[in-house]
Amino acid sequence: MLVYIFGSKGQLGRELVEVFQGEYQVEGFDLPEFDITNPSMVYSLLGKEAPDLVINSAAYTNVDKAEEEIDQAFLVNEVGARLIADLANQWKAPVVYYSTDYIFDGMQRRPYKESDVPNPLNVYGQTKLAGERATKVANPKHYILRTAWLYGFGGNNFIEKMISLVQTREKVEVSEDEIGSPTYAFDLAQITKEIVKTQAYGVYHAVNSGECSRYSLIKEAFSLLKIEIPIEPCSRTKFSLPAKRPAYSVLDNSKLSNILGRQIRSWSEALRDYISRRTR
Ligand SMILES: NC(=O)c1ccc[n+]([C@@H]2O[C@H](COP(=O)([O-])OP(=O)(O)OC[C@H]3O[C@@H](n4cnc5c(N)ncnc54)[C@H](OP(=O)(O)O)[C@@H]3O)[C@@H](O)[C@H]2O)c1
Repeated sequence: MLVYIFGSKGQLGRELVEVFQGEYQVEGFDLPEFDITNPSMVYSLLGKEAPDLVINSAAYTNVDKAEEEIDQAFLVNEVGARLIADLANQWKAPVVYYSTDYIFDGMQRRPYKESDVPNPLNVYGQTKLAGERATKVANPKHYILRTAWLYGFGGNNFIEKMISLVQTREKVEVSEDEIGSPTYAFDLAQITKEIVKTQAYGVYHAVNSGECSRYSLIKEAFSLLKIEIPIEPCSRTKFSLPAKRPAYSVLDNSKLSNILGRQIRSWSEALRDYISRRTR
């Protein structure tokens, strides 16, 4: 079995390469050598051996910068997604695309299901929703995995950002009124490997189970890391970031859990695993 992974150097991409290796022959593509928005580069791959599976984890992921770099964000997350999904379709191979909890507006007070209506508050969310639609239209064999608050090795994620702040601060302030589903990139890579065996194409909420505030996430991470610094809960309105974010964007992963025939482990268990691998 052969899999082509786009965005193979990103925090999810690296885990995908690790997790698929062994069972699959893996070939990774990423910037600067390979640009998913360049049609001639993308279609030149048709001269290579046809893969059994295509995974698109390449993305424009800077949520705040996307508010300014609108065209570039749509180019990667929508146009690039369409090209990769179409490429896979020409090989008659299924495609995996990753989307986000930021396609929802956060007005709900129960976990979002796949059937809930998207209404992104920021440009990044709009580009990822457009990418979902482009992927669906270009390739009927699609798995769209919506994830959230992703963290893993080599990523500029929220947990690592807060850890780096410790060097220069005497205390950290973290919002307690932003609730979501933190997800470990390693778990998402495992989920991907399992779901592509089902041929049950469609949209899935692929997150670790449970929910927490950004404050509880950092409290737990710092406690596991034995970082002793005061952590103060605050309101998210304290940080005036360019992109609006949903206050509540917990994703319900029961559809995924049913199709895989297993529970998805909780965010706190996954976090413990990440911290222990990180400190090893
Ligand atoms: N991070 C999160 O919290 C989060 C939350 C929800 C959903 N997601 C989604 O999950 C997926 C994986 O995210 P991630 O955190 O692993 O992202 P990431 O660490 O930013 O990785 C994305 C990779 O794609 C590459 N890339 C960007 N533009 C490209 C292009 N035009 N052609 C080829 N490669 C390109 C990036 O290269 P450069 O680094 O050189 O730009 C990077 O290696 C994405 O679809 C993302 O939207 C992420």
